[in-house]
Amino acid sequence: MAIERIVSTSAVDETEVEQELDQTLRPKDFANYIGQKRLKQNLKLAIDAAKKRDEQLDHILLYGPPGLGKTTMASVIANEMGSQIRITSGPAIERAGDLASLLTNLQEGDILFIDEVHRLHRTVEEILYSAMEDFKLDIMLGKGPSAKSLRLDLPKFTLIGATTRTGSLAAPLRDRFGMIHRLEFYSTDEVSHIIQRAAEILHISITPEAAEQLALRSRLTPRIANRLLKRVRDYADINGDGIIDAALSHSALELLEVDELGLDPGDRMLLLAIIDNYSGGPVGIETLAALTAEERSTIEDFYEPYLMQIGLIERTPRGRKVTPKAYRHLGKKQN
Ligand code: ADE
Repeated sequence: MAIERIVSTSAVDETEVEQELDQTLRPKDFANYIGQKRLKQNLKLAIDAAKKRDEQLDHILLYGPPGLGKTTMASVIANEMGSQIRITSGPAIERAGDLASLLTNLQEGDILFIDEVHRLHRTVEEILYSAMEDFKLDIMLGKGPSAKSLRLDLPKFTLIGATTRTGSLAAPLRDRFGMIHRLEFYSTDEVSHIIQRAAEILHISITPEAAEQLALRSRLTPRIANRLLKRVRDYADINGDGIIDAALSHSALELLEVDELGLDPGDRMLLLAIIDNYSGGPVGIETLAALTAEERSTIEDFYEPYLMQIGLIERTPRGRKVTPKAYRHLGKKQN
């Protein structure tokens, strides 16, 4: 299908200008980071303890659906530690040598953030094991019988890995993280606060009612909230007097085809595919992928977490099932 989705949770879908804007919206410290209360408490404790012992922070794995702020949280951690952060991603590290060069260029106490850490190549991943555990880099010089192995000392660094699913991570890698934390969906209230904070930074006038309405349609996800805010601002600049109130945001969201639950045409198509072709399910994930012309991982990472969170889809041992709530939402009769 590969349509451009206003509710996409992928940062890759964003233009350069949007990514730059996001940098200005990103909170820099815990005090300005709204939501994820328990995670912040756990991280604060670990950071205070590491500082007190004058040690680097243990390696951290952050997991959860896209758009909930894993990269932002990694930057906040670095800032709170007073450390430098290097940001990269699993697929960007193509060869063992790329990782070796990244690691040897780190300084003591630096944070290395690897997004999509489950997509590291196996040969690259294996180098991480001794780097994480012993701060050593094992490299092979030459090939065949004359090959020699060399062990280099690395500065004591902290790896922060991010992944959408811990299940796709190899056990030896997962086991080397001292802390494994899940980012949760935000509450509507938290998203509403995030929208009001972003509006203030971007000098956008928005009423609390409009912020609430946007929050309700943002899939409990800050990245989507900020994107919707910007689109609604465009609408307000052209069709209104620049002030976003409830009526205006309602019209803008209608135009964007984002409904009261934050579903876009892609979500509705997925639900209808199960209802119309499989009487509401259960239906296997592979069949669903074929039916909607989406990748299995797109369904698992982007569509499902939110649809399950708000109770429109259930996962059963025999596949995915649409709930009575989904029938009601789509105005469909359940047989
Ligand atoms: N912008 C995006 N995510 C945020 C968060 N959790 N807190 C404050 N601003 C944000």
